[in-house]
Amino acid sequence: MILSSVVKTAIALAMLGYSAASPTPSSSSVADSHPTVPNELTLGVKQVPNILNETAVDANQVAKGYSLTNVTATPRGLTGLLNLKGATNIYGYDFDKLNLTVTYQSDNRLNVRIAPVNLTDVYILPESLVALPKVEGDVNTFEFENSDLIFSYDSENFGFEVKRASTAEVLFSTKGNPLVFSNQFVQFNTTLPKGHQITGLGESIHGSLNEPGTVKTLFANDVGDPIDGNIYGVHPVYYDQRYDTGTTHGVYWRTSAIQEVVVEDQSLTWRALSGVIDLYFFSGPDPKDVIQQYVKEIGLPAMQPYWALGYHQCRWGYDTIDDVKNVVENFKKFNIPLETIWTDIDYMDTYKDFTNDPYRYPTDKYQQLLEELHSNNQHYVPIFDAAIYVPNPNNATDNAYTPFHAGNESDIFLKNPDGSLYIGAVWPGYTAFPDFLNNKTQEYWNEQFKTWHDRIPFDGIWTDMNEVSSFCVGSCGSGRYFDNPVHPPFAVGAPATSYPLNFNVTNATEWASISSAIAATASTPVPEATSSSSSSIDSKNTLAPGKGNINYPPYAINNAQGDHDLATHAVSPNATHVDGTVEYDIHNLYGFTQEKAIYNALLNIAPDKRPFIIGRSTFAGAGHYVGHWGGDNSADYDMMYFSIPQAFSMGLSGVPFFGVDVCGFNGNTDMELCSRWMQLGSFFPFYRNHNVLGAISQEPYVWESVTEAAKTSMNIRYLLLPYYYTLLHESHTSGLPILRSFNWEFPYDKKLSGIDNQFFVGDALVVTPVLQPGVDKVKGVFPGTDEVYYDFYTTEKQNFKNDKNETLDAPLGHIPLHIRGGHILPTQEPGYTTTESRKNPFGLLVALDKDGKAAGKLYLDDGESLNVTESLYVDFVAGDNELSVSAFGDYKVEQPLANVTILGVDKKPEGVKFGDSKVNYKYEKGTVYITGLEKYTKEGAFAEEFTVSW
Ligand code: GLC
Repeated sequence: MILSSVVKTAIALAMLGYSAASPTPSSSSVADSHPTVPNELTLGVKQVPNILNETAVDANQVAKGYSLTNVTATPRGLTGLLNLKGATNIYGYDFDKLNLTVTYQSDNRLNVRIAPVNLTDVYILPESLVALPKVEGDVNTFEFENSDLIFSYDSENFGFEVKRASTAEVLFSTKGNPLVFSNQFVQFNTTLPKGHQITGLGESIHGSLNEPGTVKTLFANDVGDPIDGNIYGVHPVYYDQRYDTGTTHGVYWRTSAIQEVVVEDQSLTWRALSGVIDLYFFSGPDPKDVIQQYVKEIGLPAMQPYWALGYHQCRWGYDTIDDVKNVVENFKKFNIPLETIWTDIDYMDTYKDFTNDPYRYPTDKYQQLLEELHSNNQHYVPIFDAAIYVPNPNNATDNAYTPFHAGNESDIFLKNPDGSLYIGAVWPGYTAFPDFLNNKTQEYWNEQFKTWHDRIPFDGIWTDMNEVSSFCVGSCGSGRYFDNPVHPPFAVGAPATSYPLNFNVTNATEWASISSAIAATASTPVPEATSSSSSSIDSKNTLAPGKGNINYPPYAINNAQGDHDLATHAVSPNATHVDGTVEYDIHNLYGFTQEKAIYNALLNIAPDKRPFIIGRSTFAGAGHYVGHWGGDNSADYDMMYFSIPQAFSMGLSGVPFFGVDVCGFNGNTDMELCSRWMQLGSFFPFYRNHNVLGAISQEPYVWESVTEAAKTSMNIRYLLLPYYYTLLHESHTSGLPILRSFNWEFPYDKKLSGIDNQFFVGDALVVTPVLQPGVDKVKGVFPGTDEVYYDFYTTEKQNFKNDKNETLDAPLGHIPLHIRGGHILPTQEPGYTTTESRKNPFGLLVALDKDGKAAGKLYLDDGESLNVTESLYVDFVAGDNELSVSAFGDYKVEQPLANVTILGVDKKPEGVKFGDSKVNYKYEKGTVYITGLEKYTKEGAFAEEFTVSW
């Protein structure tokens, strides 16, 4: 319903208690149409993080722990009662009685749950929000000897241990350290072996291993990718790899609480600021087993549409729809594949969700461009911000913003503790935040998305700022929304002086284009915010039952915001959901719940199409709904390197569809960096170039050499689309990552454990990118004693030695790529878009191992249906100089097979046959090239079983 009158708004606001706190608008605030959120409203209260505070009490030293009584065996484990041995109330009010429940849920999963007997004010994470792993099979029987995990405990000073039966190794032990369980601080501590290999605990910008001294703060945070700091997503799971026994297990704490994990030389301490202990142990025993066991429980990754694998171009600063059109045309002009064009907040009418700027992105032109894109099999994805603008009721035009009024009438926004509307500030000014715990929100969401999509038929959603971010501290807009619209309280865009390492600013041509780009996109200057406040509060424990001090908990985490205040750059912990749940308990879930709602809203628009969503804030299970981009990195070599461990970590988190802002977001990129990154990025599952407002343009056609480099790798990516799609499907059905670390492929070779400058795509391709400027060689290792590797470009067998650091030629424009023997990769002739590629003939790349064997598979379907009714599975097996291909399934491909290339054939074959027919081939340096197979496969490449022999 359109509510444009001030009167109706006032009534709606009054119903929410919204007007009570609102002053009569001053004439000055009304007159000033574009003020800024006052600086002082952005300042949090300076906190001293516990881990940085040398005088902080170590709970392990002080707490007295619990004793265990009433132990009772159950068909699946045991239960018991934990009794507090003496209150110490270190960082919260201690619970005196806890229930312990141990359940063998399956042969590879053990659950240990510890929760207060009195659950008043204790947050219990409902299954409706985050998947709950369940007992498998009959709840009343279990063959304990089938589990490789053994639970044992000490009663007097309660501690428990999980051992691996097959190796007798202790995997986890809290024995010797007290359990601490209070309303605002839950802590346990496990021993770790010396030289441990802990991975996981994302999301952060960090190497792939969490070496001793690592502190992982798990609090979703809108911050530009600080190294080691807490960033957008939270994944409370770690993987513990034991090289002495060649086994790996995983530990998942199913909690949405604010957490901090300290990894030390021989211990791991895990702290949460609320909730209960709900731990899941996964027995593995290989890393890939653990990943699958975990991801299956949190939610298998979404099957992305086929087009998601194409190249995506984005930037903040496509000022008008004509700019966007030009970019699309330029890609075509330079013949660089462009699958999807994205727009940032530029398209919005003063940054308001569900709108488009009537002058810069007028609807008719906008629709026309989308029509053109769609008719060329291209796609369009807009950004969408989490918060909804609160219009200024004194400005009729502003107040015509119906999405706020509709939400306000349905009463679906977060509240202050007193029931009034919580009003923060994001790009458009003061904003409200949809409450995804409210049953009515989905309906509101469906309506808004449908109306928007009817006007602007986008193909997917890029959801941003959903940590959930707010530029001020607390409900800063209460009483101030009459100032709307307001500017963000900080300068946006790239400073003109930031360039990558070794960048030569005297380069006249480049400098000229940079200056004009900056001039063209310069934003109105706004004052810089000071980073912190000098004031401090007494954040002591309230020492009483209840929720405690949720805005300033007694244990201060090392939140990566200047003042460490939980409310800095985020909605405040006391913002309240419809059922009374406070953000404090579920802050980490905001993005996840919002993404689920967007997923449902997109299904409401197109019920049988796979929703395409790229989300910023993720939680355990988010991969079931969305892919993820790495957030605000910067245009430098360090960040290019960190994209690899970040991808590994997202793979461990069940979010395999991942990529970063290629060429870098913050700061200006340069030709060399962008060339390297366009090539590296082309091997990530999600491949998108994006940069910040004010930075120089970085589309691949900006530099001739980048154009060439990008085209070279894009050609490989598009050639391999059937391989990538098969990996997407494998990931969707098993949970396995697409981009894989050496550590997972060769889990028993400790020297490979920390390698994160190289990676596998699936298990058949090794990428060795250049990650530093000014070099034309790169070092890499090629693991495995029995492995054979082939250079992708020359198809020649390499003479690599296991354990040796090989030096590879890598001049600018070339990214070393190797195929691992033993694998067969399906290919398809690249087209300009994925749709066009799918119309081209297939090929097969057969890379033989040292015994002349190889295998592979292909999965295909229509590439977009959510509920797939027709699919195709093809198996490829090679050995004894013969390749056999057999398919099953109803999905038909009409395109023929054009060629088969066999790598690793020691001598020239006397002849090559397709079935019984002799076919043409060429033999060169160990490779057999068979072409002209179309005539045997006219009905479609895989319509019939066939063999190729040589
Ligand atoms: C956030 C996003 C970034 C986007 C910007 C403007 O910083 O992470 O990708 O460009 O907001 O919308």
